[in-house]
Amino acid sequence: MHYFPSFLEVNSTRNRTQTLSVTSGKGGVGKSTLLANLAYSLGQKGQKVLILDGDLGLANVDIIFGKKSKHTIFDVLNCEKKLQDILLEVSPNVYLIPGGSGLYQLSHLAPHQKKSLLEQVSEMDHFFNYLLIDTASGISENVLYLNSAAQDILVVVTPDPASITDSYALIKVLTQKFHENHFGIVVNLVRDEEEAISTYRRLAEVADRFLCVSLDFKGFILNDPKMRQATKKQQMIVHTDPLAQSSRGILNLVNEIHGLPKLKEPKGSLQFFWQQLSGVA
Ligand SMILES: Nc1ncnc2c1ncn2[C@@H]1O[C@H](COP(=O)(O)OP(=O)(O)OP(=O)(O)O)[C@@H](O)[C@H]1O
Ligand SMILES: [Mg+2]
Repeated sequence: MHYFPSFLEVNSTRNRTQTLSVTSGKGGVGKSTLLANLAYSLGQKGQKVLILDGDLGLANVDIIFGKKSKHTIFDVLNCEKKLQDILLEVSPNVYLIPGGSGLYQLSHLAPHQKKSLLEQVSEMDHFFNYLLIDTASGISENVLYLNSAAQDILVVVTPDPASITDSYALIKVLTQKFHENHFGIVVNLVRDEEEAISTYRRLAEVADRFLCVSLDFKGFILNDPKMRQATKKQQMIVHTDPLAQSSRGILNLVNEIHGLPKLKEPKGSLQFFWQQLSGVA
C-alpha cells in the first residue's frame, strides 16, 4: 500500500486546490467510474489529485482502482490516524481519502476535532491541484452538503427520463436550499452526440423555465461495452484503451476541466471545502 509523500515536496506558490463534485439525481449513471477515469487522466497530466469517496453507503472508488483501503476518515476523527496517513495512492499522482460512514460524523464534530481536521487539511491545500468528490445519488443531506461545499458541481445525467427528472430535482434543491446557481452537465451512456445534446436540452429547458440557474454542457460519453468490461476488470478505460469511444468523451472532459479558470476565491480551496462540511465557516 502506498501512502502520501512527504510534505517537503509541497510547492507553496501553487494555486489553491480546485474542488469539483461529481453527482447525480439517479443512481448507477456512471459517476464513480467517470470520476476515477478523470482522476487517473489528470494524474497522467502531472496534476496532483485528491479524491474524497463521499458515497457513505457504497464507497467504492478504491475498488474501481483495484485497491483496498485499510483506514477511513473515521480513524482520523477518532484521532487514531493523521489524515495524511490514511491517504491511499490509487494511481500516479492520485490519492484517495476513503470516506465511509465516518463522513456522517463531519457535521457533528466536537470543536477539537474540527480544529485538528482543518489544520491537517490546510497543510495539504497547496499540494493538490484538484479535489474530486464522489457523492451518492439523490438529495440526501450528505449529498447536498458535499455538493454545496465544492466549488464546481458536475451533474451526470443519462437519456433515461428518470435520470433527467431526478437531476432536475437535485438541481432544484441545491438552488433553493444552498443557493447554487451554476452546474456543469455531463451526459453519459448515449448513442451519439445528438442524443447527448437532446438530453441536455430537455434538462436545461425545464430548469430555465422554473429555476434561476445556468447549466453548462460539459460533454458526453458514449455507451460503450468496453467501459463496462474495464470496470469489471478494475481497469481505467482511458489507460487500457485510450482510443475507445468512451475514452474519447472522458479525455475531452478532462481537457474541459483542466481548462477551467483557476479562481483564487476562497471557495476554491481544500480548507474552504472542509470548513463548509464541518460547519466551521
Ligand atoms: N459510458 C459508459 N458505457 C458503458 N458502461 C458504463 C458507462 N459509464 C458507466 N458505465 C458502467 O455503469 C456501471 C455503473 O457505474 P458507476 O458505479 O460508476 O455508477 P454510479 O453513478 O457511481 O452508481 P452509484 O449511484 O451506485 O454510485 C459500471 O459498470 C460502469 O462500468
Ligand atoms: Mg458511485
